Amino acid sequence: MNHPTRAVIARPLTPFTGTARVPGDKSISHRTLILGALTVGETTVEGLLEGEDVLATASAIRLLGAHVERDACGVWRINGCGISGLKEADDVLDLGNAGTGVRLLCGVAAGHPFTTFLCGDRSLSRRPMSRVIEPLEEMGARFLCRSGGRLPLAVTGGDPLLPLHHELQVPSAQVKSAVLLAGLHAPGTTTVVEKAPLRDHTERLLHAFGASLEIMPGVNGQRSISIAGHPELVPVDIHVPGDPSSAAFLIGLGAALPGAALTVRHVGINPTRTGFFETLRDMGANLGFINRREMAGEPVADIAVEGTVLKGIEVPPERAPSMIDEYPVLAAIAATAEGRTVMRGLAELRVKESDRLAAVAAGLAANGVRVDEERDGLVVHGVAGRPPGGGCVAVNLDHRIAMAFLVMGLLSHDGVAIDDTGAIDTSFPGFTRLLEGLGAEFGEWTG
Ligand code: S3P
Repeated sequence: MNHPTRAVIARPLTPFTGTARVPGDKSISHRTLILGALTVGETTVEGLLEGEDVLATASAIRLLGAHVERDACGVWRINGCGISGLKEADDVLDLGNAGTGVRLLCGVAAGHPFTTFLCGDRSLSRRPMSRVIEPLEEMGARFLCRSGGRLPLAVTGGDPLLPLHHELQVPSAQVKSAVLLAGLHAPGTTTVVEKAPLRDHTERLLHAFGASLEIMPGVNGQRSISIAGHPELVPVDIHVPGDPSSAAFLIGLGAALPGAALTVRHVGINPTRTGFFETLRDMGANLGFINRREMAGEPVADIAVEGTVLKGIEVPPERAPSMIDEYPVLAAIAATAEGRTVMRGLAELRVKESDRLAAVAAGLAANGVRVDEERDGLVVHGVAGRPPGGGCVAVNLDHRIAMAFLVMGLLSHDGVAIDDTGAIDTSFPGFTRLLEGLGAEFGEWTG
């Protein structure tokens, strides 16, 4: 997927008051489409994220035989083919930038006895796929890929696929989900053991679609998730909550701009996703969840925040899985805080859409902020106010790096530029427009 690139500079923002809504949750949107494709009957969705990642998953399940219709903005219908009912695709499935799409679809393809070809953009083609290939091969699927377990790859489903007991070697919800989705196609019970709680949208949705799932707590926060193979899934109506990882850019901005007052409505507050908001509170943010409610098996709330000068803290490393996508924006905000913010236990950030530890360190340094890059972490030396800015940050197809540094620009003295806004459409179409509605200004960056 080629998006138009445009370099822009975010200019310093003055305190604002406002209310906003963010697009639907990316993780839930991918999973709803995929489970809809495995269900006979019509699944309806409201609030589906129409970002490039999710649109790539929608195209992929269409190629595999599901009927997918868009009725209105965020309103979609999926008529699926049932467990093991998808057909061989006529073309390569191009997942663009979507790690979640490609890894979850590897699990689905492993359950179908034909060959599926998958590819992605330059960023996705650098990311490791061995983490899903290994367990799925143990279940009987066969893979061909480039060196280092990288895309493009071909997967031939197991015939039959075998159930598996798998202990996750990396803390990845995508791997957990790929194995559980493959388990739907294997006779008997497939079990995944996670060492610490990872995002559990797959489990919640599987439950809603009528799969038979057992979740057993173990010692030291471990959990085993067992799924019975060959269920008959039932179609559901899903209302996707706003993505907490997208809300993090707005809430973080509001929290770090003294005098600002912002409410973001209708955000998912699943406890496996709220580490960033806890961290902001630890940094002294005045932040609250109001109007708590439940939608499609997920807790939802409006998040209200008032801005202040935050304090640097040591972020507990065990909190990482619940805020893994939020470290770039946390680092941007930490630049405004009083004192050091220490973030560790983050080796996984090196294999996201870009090497996020390197990208954040380079971006902060280019904008006058002292930062120590460690093997698995970052230490950001906050300036207790507006950081200098004035630099341009290379986005390298990473939507969260793009948004984090635009947020930093709004909080800075001289503004911060990014070399590509196109990547933002991966997860947050309309990001700059929404911020403009809150008073932000973006200009063309000419260097
Ligand atoms: C996701 C899981 C996380 C996260 C990604 C979405 C998901 O990745 O970083 O943006 O939807 O399962 P890992 O599972 O690789 O940690």
